[in-house]
Amino acid sequence: MPNPSLLILAGDGIGPEVMAETRRVIDWFGARRGLAFDVTEGLVGGAAIDAHGTPLADATMAAAQAADAVLLGAVGGPKWDNLPFDQKPERGLLRLRKEMDLFANLRPAVCFAALAGASTLKPEVIGGLDIVIVRELTSGIYFGSPRGIVTEGGQRVGINTQRYTEGEIARVARAAFALARQRSGRVCSMEKANVMESGVLWREVVQAVHDAEFADVALSHMYADAGAMQLVRAPKQFDVIVTDNLFGDLLSDLAAMLTGSIGMLPSASLGAPAAGGRPKALYEPVHGSAPDIAGKGIANPLAAILSFGMALRYSFGQGAEADRLDRAVERVLAGGIRTGDLLQLPGRKPVGTKAMGDAVLAGLEADLAAG
Ligand code: IPM
Ligand code: MG
Repeated sequence: MPNPSLLILAGDGIGPEVMAETRRVIDWFGARRGLAFDVTEGLVGGAAIDAHGTPLADATMAAAQAADAVLLGAVGGPKWDNLPFDQKPERGLLRLRKEMDLFANLRPAVCFAALAGASTLKPEVIGGLDIVIVRELTSGIYFGSPRGIVTEGGQRVGINTQRYTEGEIARVARAAFALARQRSGRVCSMEKANVMESGVLWREVVQAVHDAEFADVALSHMYADAGAMQLVRAPKQFDVIVTDNLFGDLLSDLAAMLTGSIGMLPSASLGAPAAGGRPKALYEPVHGSAPDIAGKGIANPLAAILSFGMALRYSFGQGAEADRLDRAVERVLAGGIRTGDLLQLPGRKPVGTKAMGDAVLAGLEADLAAG
């Protein structure tokens, strides 16, 4: 059997820095756990624009389609902000999501015990938090047409279209229900059925899929604005939240602060379950390219490292090794090691990106030794 293949697209800003530490973690699992991967690297986003004049070269797109999993860093930055819209770095990421048909984006928000004090929210509100936002990723207002900026009656008009088919809603709902079955069996669906027809259809279809196929799962519905409020007020009431592309984008950034820092949130973007094979999959930290701290060696690599953990779990059937990585991160944080984005402990200095990578490797060794 050949080794499974990983394509690393580090991208822009802090992407290459956090992916370098992730690469060391990947290599650790090869050396210490017999989980060797064939790793190749490619360009995406601004880095690809600079090299090839496009945010995602066709050859890179083909390599992503062929890989067993793609690990992405981050895309975008001020250098490319003034490019025409369809040439921006972000288009590279959106093309990957769309052409690989990665419709189910899992964004777990887990508050590690040691970080309960690192959020701006009260520790009792977020301590022990463990929820997953399942965001629809290949449709909705991100991709709907008509779109554009047109001139009407002497002034410009910006247009985007929210559009969902029943099939698109049903498949992401199934992904959320299936996930809930492996967890505490509760799904909350969020939309704006009070003002949007697409929200009315969303609610209907989610309910129908539930009634026909997942009646054992507890389903509730919430308007997305109220959901945002409830996520801050009492986030532990949720288990799995399923929502559309745009609401999912917003709610997952909000959920990031429930974990202490956006530097902690990993994600998995999955395609349809493949018969006898792996689903198409891309793993990436939820944080962006963070141009303000890029190149300084201070970014938190944990979201990228934990995204590789999600690859172990969802692409490679290595849930026990993913648990090991989670425990190693827990151990590092419990030991008081923090990058600058996390609340500092009295008398401790923040560590840089590489030192955090070192700490995770030491945490993995310690976890192995603890048996
Ligand atoms: C995310 C990001 C992306 C999005 C950007 C970089 C295109 O914010 O993954 O949440 O809006 O989906
Ligand atoms: Mg976002």
